[in-house]
Amino acid sequence: MTARISTFEQYQEEYKKSIEDPEGFWAGIAENFTWKKKWDKVLEWNFKEPNIKWFLNAKLNITENCIDRHLAHKGHQPAIVWEPNDPSEKSITLTYNQLHEQVCTFSNVLKKQGVKKGDRVCIYMPMVPEAAVAMLACARIGAVHSVVFAGFSTQSLSDRINDCNCEVVITSDGLFRGAKTVELKKIVDEALAVCPCVRNVIVLKRTGTPVEMKEGRDIYWTEEMQNSSGDCSSEEMDSEDMLYILYTSGSTGKPKGVVHTTAGYMVYTWYSFLNVFQYNDGDVYWCTADIGWVTGHSYTVYAPLLAGATIVMFEGIPVYPDAGRFWSVIEKHEVNIFYTAPTAIRSLMASGLDFVKPYDLGSLRVLGSVGEPINEEAWIWYNENIGKNQCPIVDTWWQTETGGILISPLAGITETKPSYAMLPLPGVQPVLLDSTGHELTGNAVEGNLCIKFPWPSMIRTTYGDHERCRQTYFDTYPNMYFTGDGCRRDADGDYRIIGRVDDVLKVSGHRLGTADIEDAINHCPEVVESAVVGYPHPVKGQGIYAFVTCDKAEHEYAALKQDILHNVTNLIGPIAKPDKIQFVRGLPKTRSGKIMRRILRKIAEGDTSNLGDTTTLIDPTVVEEIKNGVAS
Ligand code: PRX
Repeated sequence: MTARISTFEQYQEEYKKSIEDPEGFWAGIAENFTWKKKWDKVLEWNFKEPNIKWFLNAKLNITENCIDRHLAHKGHQPAIVWEPNDPSEKSITLTYNQLHEQVCTFSNVLKKQGVKKGDRVCIYMPMVPEAAVAMLACARIGAVHSVVFAGFSTQSLSDRINDCNCEVVITSDGLFRGAKTVELKKIVDEALAVCPCVRNVIVLKRTGTPVEMKEGRDIYWTEEMQNSSGDCSSEEMDSEDMLYILYTSGSTGKPKGVVHTTAGYMVYTWYSFLNVFQYNDGDVYWCTADIGWVTGHSYTVYAPLLAGATIVMFEGIPVYPDAGRFWSVIEKHEVNIFYTAPTAIRSLMASGLDFVKPYDLGSLRVLGSVGEPINEEAWIWYNENIGKNQCPIVDTWWQTETGGILISPLAGITETKPSYAMLPLPGVQPVLLDSTGHELTGNAVEGNLCIKFPWPSMIRTTYGDHERCRQTYFDTYPNMYFTGDGCRRDADGDYRIIGRVDDVLKVSGHRLGTADIEDAINHCPEVVESAVVGYPHPVKGQGIYAFVTCDKAEHEYAALKQDILHNVTNLIGPIAKPDKIQFVRGLPKTRSGKIMRRILRKIAEGDTSNLGDTTTLIDPTVVEEIKNGVAS
């Protein structure tokens, strides 16, 4: 593994090389893969359109690199060790040979349903091995998967299916999440009432919940697998052919379909996995992220398989049957590398050490954190009680759009500081800009985080709307990719992510747009207007605070609140339900009609001492009323 960095000096050398000669650097890394045909040129780019192409004209299939190339020496090694929601149910292991067979067979199932290269397939599934099989089978035949998190509602699902015209949906009868069962197939049926593009639904039986099977449209996973062959050669893909679409929320409009392509994504996710986690051959690796999120794509499925790792895949939640579940799974499967979100750490921290103590966590070597800023207290708790002060913590900063980790310590190599993502990976050129677009050079500065040079796994477009991609990420600052995050570079030159500078919230690590939540609230006929802001929440990181104006009397607020929660659950999903709702007479607006969110954020944070200048408001008295009001 020539790509593996093992000392800090080597990191510095590699970083320098990657900046001075990016093309030579990435070509060297790309040599580690199986190509059907190598590239003619490494990189072509501009951030104006944007147009980003890596490894031009190379031909490959990512599944050959995830699976086939490991078969000769690791065919019998576990590829996926699946841990079910209920600890009394047996775990299942798929070796690389078995994964290969399942992926090939399911590829043939898809082909039989008429799925071809370039077609879009929606995956709406629980965390079961078949979900990974479905993703990989799409990639094997060149279909583009669009995984939708199985906590999203009917409406979110149908929006996503229609946006990219999926022809097939892969789902299950239901899913188990802690003590709950969710009837997934029912949600799919409701969604498909408005999705004429869908031809077939493939249904895996997981919960045994009875489902309605629509004649001519719906088929069962197992039956189809039994009738299909296990031989399927991989489709030849161009390096820039689409690998997947993943929808994510922004500050305006409907969620957009972030597009990732094949070769650059493969090269970068593998390289970052190897180096950030300092993966060693034979390590057991567990990333708790659901496949519905980008972490589940890059670091639950693709990168670890590219590296030939043994992956633990977990169906359940951290607190079921009790708050010791994560630690029991680590003990049971002798996990070496563990990667989770700060919100999980904070909730387990709150449950106390009695849930940690019974378990032997001696197998752990590296701990990771992702998805939102990790506060110092949680970092220290994780370090002391889970890592026993022996395991480096990698606080990895990245985004759906970046495809892979961009800023992070390399485990055991980079020095760490609580709540710091520390340093950029080789190939990543971060800059901090002030609001006027001036670069803040030197150290001890704080500004908007941008990246000034392409890296292989970056977003290529937003599906069906390239202009939206340009406007969202490349228009704010010329020739820069704008992340939407605020960031500090401290006196030592280390990076600390502060959080979003736009109207995007991170609630329990989930990314939600305030505009989407407002739309859902405004759907209640009695609601006149609403404004949603985030506020610090001890477990979720950010909580959701909604200010609502309505034409109801005070004694009807309780019923309206239920309606609002119901609407948000139906239109987005339970993860977007406001934690607090405050009914108000009016919202603070400027004369041009703009809601002054700054004031609402301060009130939501409970900091009303200095609300700044309110004289430009149409009606400053509403601020006093909001301040004196209460949320429920
Ligand atoms: O604000 C940053 C935060 O999560 C955002 C990206 O969210 P999403 O696309 O859902 O991807 C999450 C998984 C990669 C970023 O803009 N974020 C992510 N990782 C960190 C973080 N904030 C602070 N520290 C991190 N390590």
